[in-house]
Amino acid sequence: MTDPQVSFILDGREVQAPPGTTVLEAARKLGHAIPTLCHHPLLETIGRCGVCTVEREPAVLIPACSTPVEQGAVYHTGSPAVAAHRREVVKLLLSRHELACHVCDRHGECELERLVGRLGITDGSPVGLAAETFTDRSSTSVSLLGDHCLACGRCVALCDSLGWGALRLDGGLVQARSVDEPGLAGPRCTSCGQCALVCPSSALVPRSAVVPVESALMDRDRHCVAVLEPTAAAALMNELKVDAQPRLIGTLASLGFAGVVDSAWGADAYLAELADRLHRERPRAAIISPCEAVRRYVRLNRPELADWLPPESGPSQQAAVNWRQKVSPELGLAPGHCYLAQVATGTAAKEGVRRHSVDRERGLDAALTVRELTGLLRRLGMTPEKAKARGFTHLRGSRLGTMLGAPGAVADGLAVVWAQRSGSALPAPSGGFLPPAEEEREVEIPGGGPARVLVAHGGRPVQKALDRAVELSAEKGAPRVFLELYACP
Ligand code: SF4
Ligand code: SF4
Ligand code: FES
Repeated sequence: MTDPQVSFILDGREVQAPPGTTVLEAARKLGHAIPTLCHHPLLETIGRCGVCTVEREPAVLIPACSTPVEQGAVYHTGSPAVAAHRREVVKLLLSRHELACHVCDRHGECELERLVGRLGITDGSPVGLAAETFTDRSSTSVSLLGDHCLACGRCVALCDSLGWGALRLDGGLVQARSVDEPGLAGPRCTSCGQCALVCPSSALVPRSAVVPVESALMDRDRHCVAVLEPTAAAALMNELKVDAQPRLIGTLASLGFAGVVDSAWGADAYLAELADRLHRERPRAAIISPCEAVRRYVRLNRPELADWLPPESGPSQQAAVNWRQKVSPELGLAPGHCYLAQVATGTAAKEGVRRHSVDRERGLDAALTVRELTGLLRRLGMTPEKAKARGFTHLRGSRLGTMLGAPGAVADGLAVVWAQRSGSALPAPSGGFLPPAEEEREVEIPGGGPARVLVAHGGRPVQKALDRAVELSAEKGAPRVFLELYACP
C-alpha cells in the first residue's frame, strides 16, 4: 500500500507530497527558489533566521524550512508580503555586518553576499545598533569575528553533530562563541575548521596564511617551496577543474613557488619512524594516523593517552624537514632564505605548523588551505590554462607514502614497512577503503602477530574508538590496537 499523500496548492499549482515534507523541500522539488540562510543540507533543521519565510493563506508568514506541508493549505513563496519580510529580516541581520564585500576574503563565495544581491539590498540598518560583539582570535586555525556573525546557528549545530561541542550561541543570541572561556584556543575546539566550511558569512574563517605566503613569494631573496598533500591536490584539481596533476603543479610554479614537493616524500619517513617505535616499544595501543586535530584533542582532553600519539612530525612536516636538511644545502641556500608552505585540506595543519615550530626543529613556515590557495589564484587572475605542466621537484621517496592519502591505509603502509624489514612476503594491501564513520578489522603484521585496527572519522566515533581501545588494550593476550583516527567526517 502506498503512503497517503498530502495535497496542497503552491504558487497556484496543485501539488502532492509525502507527509512530513517541508514547504521548502516541496518548493525546491518544483524548481521554486526560496532563499535560505540557517538551513544547510548537511545539518538538522535549525529554523532560526526567518529568511525562508513564505505565506500560508490567510496571510500567515511561516518558515518554509521547518514547516511540513498541510492538507488543503495554500502557499505563496514570492508574494509582496513575503518579499518585504525577507528584506526586513536580512536588513536586521546586516545591522552589525558592514557591507564591505569588496575587501572581504570571502568576496565572491559568500552566501550572505549572494543573498543580499538577490534581494536587491544595498545597505543594512545603521551599523552599531546591535549589542556589542566579541571577536575571538585565540586559535591558530580559525577566527570568529563577532561583528560578522548572523547568529544563524549553523556552526553550533555542525560542531555538535561532530561530537566536539565547542561552540554555543551567546545568551543574547547575538553571535556564536566558544564554549571554553579562553576562546577557540581552549580544549574543546580541535581546530578541524569544519565550522568555517558551513558559515554563510565571513564570521568563522581560517586564520589566513595568504599575506605571509604572498609576501614570501614576492621576496626575490626567498626560495619558496610548496608541500602538497595528496588529498589537497585532489581537492585543488576538482576546484580548479584541472584534469592532470602536472598542470596543477605548473599552476603553483606560476604563482612563484620555486619547488613543489609531494608530502608523500615525508610519509616514508613518518611510516619508518612509526614502525621503529611500535617495534621497539611494543605499546598495547597506538594512534597511527597523523591527524593534527585528533592530536590536539588527545593532548588537551585525554592526556592519559598521550603516549599513544604518533610521531611529532606528520608527512608534510617530515617532507619540509627533509627538504631543509638535504636539498637546501645542495642548492646552496641559507636556511633563512627558504620558505616552505604546506598546502592542506584542513585548518588543523595551521596548528601543526605552530606546534612543530615550538616543539621541534624548523620545518614548515605556513599552512595554506585549499580555499585560501584558490582564493589567491583567483585574486591574481592565474588560471591553470596559462600554466605549463610540470612534475614534482625533489621526489626521492618510495611513494609508499601516497597510500596515506587514503584514509584507513596507514596500517597497510606499516605492514609493508615491516614486511620489507623482516624479508617477509609483502602483504596484499587492502588498498585503503572508503571508510564508514567507524570500522574495526584485524590485520596480520609480518613477524609481529595480529593487530586490531580501529578506524574512526568525526568526533563521536573518534571518542568511541579511544574508549574501545582502552578496553581492548586492558584485555590480557588480546591483539595490539592501532587507531586510525580523523577529526573530520
Ligand atoms: S574548528 Fe572544529 S572543533 Fe573547533 S569549533 Fe569549529 S567545528 Fe568545532
Ligand atoms: S559564526 Fe557563521 S555559522 Fe556560526 S552563527 Fe555566526 S554566521 Fe552562523
Ligand atoms: S532558512 Fe529557514 S529559518 Fe533559516
